[in-house]
Amino acid sequence: MSIATIKGFKDILPHETPIWQWIEKNARDIFRVFGFKEIRTPLLEWTELFTRGIGQETDIVSKEMYTLADSRGRNQTLRPEATASVVRAYIEHRLYLLNPVQKLFSIGPMFRHERPQKGRFRQFHQINAELFGDPGPRSDAELINMAMHIFYRVGLTDVTLNINSLGCTSCRSEFKNRLRGFLADRRDMLCGECQRRAELNPLRVFDCKIDSCRSAMTGAPVMLDHICDACKNHFEAVKRHLDDLGIKYVVNTLLVRGLDYYSRTTFEIQTDRLGAQSAVAGGGRYDGLISELDGPPHSGMGFAIGFERLVALLEEEARPLADNPDLFIIALGDEAFRKGFIWADTLRKEGISIEMEYEAKGLKAQMKRADKLNAKRVLIAGDDELAKGSVVLRNMETKAQEEISITDLIQNLVKNIK
Ligand code: HAM
Repeated sequence: MSIATIKGFKDILPHETPIWQWIEKNARDIFRVFGFKEIRTPLLEWTELFTRGIGQETDIVSKEMYTLADSRGRNQTLRPEATASVVRAYIEHRLYLLNPVQKLFSIGPMFRHERPQKGRFRQFHQINAELFGDPGPRSDAELINMAMHIFYRVGLTDVTLNINSLGCTSCRSEFKNRLRGFLADRRDMLCGECQRRAELNPLRVFDCKIDSCRSAMTGAPVMLDHICDACKNHFEAVKRHLDDLGIKYVVNTLLVRGLDYYSRTTFEIQTDRLGAQSAVAGGGRYDGLISELDGPPHSGMGFAIGFERLVALLEEEARPLADNPDLFIIALGDEAFRKGFIWADTLRKEGISIEMEYEAKGLKAQMKRADKLNAKRVLIAGDDELAKGSVVLRNMETKAQEEISITDLIQNLVKNIK
């Protein structure tokens, strides 16, 4: 039997890569104008980084990590997300000494052993941004705004921004006790997993999709009603800044997010076009994470956009992307074939994309191939024309043809095409 990809892993095929590149280019443009610099961290990290960073009781850590032991039996994990790794790098290289506010982005694959379904993979990609060193609400608004800029830039305006506040360590721990009390009376309605969560991580019960758990949560206290004054003021200021920027949002008190490091502002950008996997991006503030990972007591805030989900939304809109050759050289005869090969090389050095057959073929077959590749122009060079010192340049869109002399062929083409 031939070998296929692993379940939940997928190839990104040549006809798909143009949209990936286009999205990445647009995201990079946005990062540039917001002053974010790229960081690239390894795909493999010590497991402890994620257990301590993301939280032992999260789904990601408790059941979704790809972990392997090295030759000395120490556990290493394929990164399930980027934040913990970027925080590690920030601490390890003391990036805060270079600049008290660090704005970093990264783009790349993540790994989670989840049950694959539409929009959910075991290897997927994220466009990730983190801002370290500012505890104030303006950076929350700026980051959320930057995420929205990326969506707007690629033409997606029908997404909904959901925001919430999870409070700080002190008001959240009080709230968790309150929620534990609420859930204790409804224990029998909860699934096995939520019975465990109710004790260890009760906020996660808000996320359970099982009907009986959902009914159990009717009338549950919500975090936003119980945050302390400082957290309330912070949240109000974030909303004000978003209003100033003209960013529309919905306050979603049930938004708890699946990672334990969040504090205060959390947000998700959602769509109703991808079935159950409605979150196209998620993020929030994590003021305790850097010190939790033995770094200085600096604030942090970030988000990640799910690349596959963004592509799926754009593909639904069938956005055509041009990656067609600038010029197809049709060579007819041995001499033309030799010359064409050299012209192709010279023009490629000028940054012009060229296609040409590898084997000699007739005019009709080559024309058909140029058409198939959607070439913008075709250069027809036959031995007979060469003997006369000219070739034919055809614009495939307008169908206009002109004869050009081979003496100044290259300059002419560069001028014509660039
Ligand atoms: P997350 O919500 O786990 O957050 O993931 C962010 C986005 O990645 C999701 O909204 C979704 O679009 C995409 N995603 C997650 N899992 C999958 C999957 N299995 N298949 C396809 N796409 C997926 C984080 O990862 C945080 N690190 C975000 C963050 C950065 N918070 C602060 N800084």
